[in-house]
Amino acid sequence: MKFSRVSPFLRVLHWSVVVLTVALLITGIFVLARFPDTDPSKLTTILRHMVLGFLVCVAVLIRMSLRFAGKYPPPVLSGITWVDLLAKMVHWILDFMAVLMAVTGVALALQSHLFEAIQDGNGMPANMARNPLLLIHAFVAGLFISMIFLHVAGALFHRFILRERKQDNTLVDSNDLTTV
Ligand code: HEM
Ligand code: HEM
Repeated sequence: MKFSRVSPFLRVLHWSVVVLTVALLITGIFVLARFPDTDPSKLTTILRHMVLGFLVCVAVLIRMSLRFAGKYPPPVLSGITWVDLLAKMVHWILDFMAVLMAVTGVALALQSHLFEAIQDGNGMPANMARNPLLLIHAFVAGLFISMIFLHVAGALFHRFILRERKQDNTLVDSNDLTTV
């Protein structure tokens, strides 16, 4: 089966990004956004969020560098020009958005003096909820979710309609990854 040729490193990288991103989006929307700023334990939850967000960013940057360095095989083509173009665009946009989430998150944390608040342990910074960067972080999260839906629809399209195991190609053949 072709799956065995796939680099386990890149498979683990992709699926770790998936698990962490979905967890960050769900906990961000359903836990962080609803957590009262007056509750001091919010800082611990945010700290966990920031560490995981940072990990996602690092994993995605590794993947982007590998793609830039030509370590990925050419994508599996469906033969439908606009579908192939869309798939390529969505993959780049997804990775870019993950980085943008981290950049806007760090900017928000810096501007709200969140790191100082975590160090002092005196509770949440007062201005956090009104910070426009929080709106931007939440807005990018909304766009990110739409892109993930589009991406999952595309993967299902490949898997069930075009009947291609595109996953095989996603994660490079281990022979191509001797430098990883
Ligand atoms: C529920 C979430 C997800 C599922 C089920 C999923 C599934 C898949 C599958 C089956 C593939 C191979 C087929 C294809 O190329 O279309 C793939 C490729 C890819 N996925 Fe996802 N994915 C998810 C989330 C994400 C997220 C959050 C990102 C980026 C932050 C991402 C980035 C990519 C990229 C860039 C590729 C192209 C190959 C590669 O660079 O590894 N995916 N995904
Ligand atoms: C892929 C990475 C990330 C995702 C998917 C993500 C997602 C989210 C979501 C959905 C929210 C809730 C927004 C709302 O509706 O109010 C949120 C809040 C927040 N995020 Fe992120 N985030 C990521 C990375 C980061 C990073 C790297 C940092 C900082 C270093 C960060 C800092 C924050 C902060 C400070 C909040 C506000 C918490 C609050 O006061 O409610 N995020 N994030």
